[in-house]
Amino acid sequence: MRAMLEARGLRVSYGKIVALRGVDVSVAKGESVSVVGRNGAGKTTLLKTIIGLVKPLEGSVVFEGRDITGLPPWDRARMGIGYVPEGRRVFPYLTVEENLVVAGYSLDPQVLKERIEYVYSLFPRLRERRSQLAFTLSGGEAQMLSIARGLIMRPKLLLMDEPSQGLAPIIVEEVFKTIARLVEEGYSLLLVEQNVAKALEVSQRVYVLDQGRVVYQASSQEALGDPVFKDAYLGG
Ligand SMILES: Nc1ncnc2c1ncn2[C@@H]1O[C@H](COP(=O)(O)OP(=O)(O)O)[C@@H](O)[C@H]1O
Ligand SMILES: [Mg+2]
Repeated sequence: MRAMLEARGLRVSYGKIVALRGVDVSVAKGESVSVVGRNGAGKTTLLKTIIGLVKPLEGSVVFEGRDITGLPPWDRARMGIGYVPEGRRVFPYLTVEENLVVAGYSLDPQVLKERIEYVYSLFPRLRERRSQLAFTLSGGEAQMLSIARGLIMRPKLLLMDEPSQGLAPIIVEEVFKTIARLVEEGYSLLLVEQNVAKALEVSQRVYVLDQGRVVYQASSQEALGDPVFKDAYLGG
């Protein structure tokens, strides 16, 4: 099976700090893959390198067979890579709908209208709240809006950075239901999470990053049956 995304030998540094030390990660079409690991492991850097916000010193990013390592982020977005950054970044003083319009500003107005209808069909709650200012949303709704913004360009591959971070447990459930829905819809996902148990529930494979290296990779099923993995990442 040819991978949809293939990151090969990525090496990234911020000045003297080496964040990635030769990372290989792949995602097949329709596959949902998790990247887990503690704070500072390099997870966000990996996503930023794939979307083009950070340039690697070495290595390459190949998407649908094309080397995109030298392309700027907007070209990668146009090719079908979506990105949901960490921290539920939405414009607080814009309405829900205005947030979606801004995310799709480069689209033809008619297409944009259809895409907004499409994300409302995925997230009916956002339709109900379409005229509300984003700062009045609950944490879960804000995360939904952030994900919806990532879907406006109808990406083939969606990168998500810790979508459950800082949310109450009941809201975390809701966010993972949303992610499961995207998997059912056929999106290819690369999901960065610290909530390892939930991440495994919605993904077929998992990578563990530690100090800029992939130190473990397995199918989610294998990982769940691996006492060493369970001990280290699922609290035994
Ligand atoms: N903009 C930056 N400038 C300098 N160092 C950074 C920057 N972003 C991340 N780092 C460092 O790179 C390493 C990896 O960070 P990051 O990719 O954010 O990890 P994670 O998302 O797994 O917490 C850490 O040591 C972090 O301090
Ligand atoms: Mg991070």
